[in-house]
Amino acid sequence: MGASVYEPINVYKPLAPDIGIVDGPFEYLTVGGIRLPLPFTTRMTVVRLSNGDLFLHSPIKFDERLANQVRGLGTPRHLVSPNQFHYAHIGEWARAFPETVAWASPRVRRRARARRVDVDFARDLNASAPDEWRAEIDQLLFPGGYFKEFIFFHKPSRSLILTDTIINIELDKISEPWRTATKLTGMYHPYGQIFFGMRLPLRFQQRKAKAAIGKIYSWQPQRIVLSHGRCFYEDADEVIRRIFGAPPH
Ligand SMILES: [Fe+2]
Repeated sequence: MGASVYEPINVYKPLAPDIGIVDGPFEYLTVGGIRLPLPFTTRMTVVRLSNGDLFLHSPIKFDERLANQVRGLGTPRHLVSPNQFHYAHIGEWARAFPETVAWASPRVRRRARARRVDVDFARDLNASAPDEWRAEIDQLLFPGGYFKEFIFFHKPSRSLILTDTIINIELDKISEPWRTATKLTGMYHPYGQIFFGMRLPLRFQQRKAKAAIGKIYSWQPQRIVLSHGRCFYEDADEVIRRIFGAPPH
């Protein structure tokens, strides 16, 4: 079996009131200008704020029909790049929805410029949530060196929204040799793990890691949404304990 996406793609799938996901098409990683033949799936998370504004986390490739569906959910307002690797389609959404604000992650402007991706980030994400969404979404900067990312928590639905911090690839959705390679990293369903590039930097930033993990515990998430692989819709507390360890003191 070849690689497969999370069908149906480009449609909103509600998870709870005011939050849902949209599975996207395959993307390919480009390293040093070379496109790797490894297809991976992408996912965007949509949160509807109480004022009707929409928070689009890690927007997937723009699609006109999807944009119409999104328009029916609320007013697209915040286009969020949670880390420097997730930003490529924000410009497309910003051009379709000029009233949106693009929020930058650390180093993303530099990365976009180097790759000649046309995107204009107006605001920077910060260690604490901005007034625009703090009543409903909390956030923190998860340490991981080069791979650090902002992670979010939708309070009403108790959903933890991660990008690359945890990867949980379903092996039967990818083909060889990538299946074996993924298996070796341990980042596969149901054993999803912290992205391997983050693990060493985390060990050198134990104080920051402890604070971040403590905050994740304090949120008491009920579900964990990921950008790559299968989300954890149940037993989020057990998954958090397995992946991040016991709550820090
Ligand atoms: Fe990613």
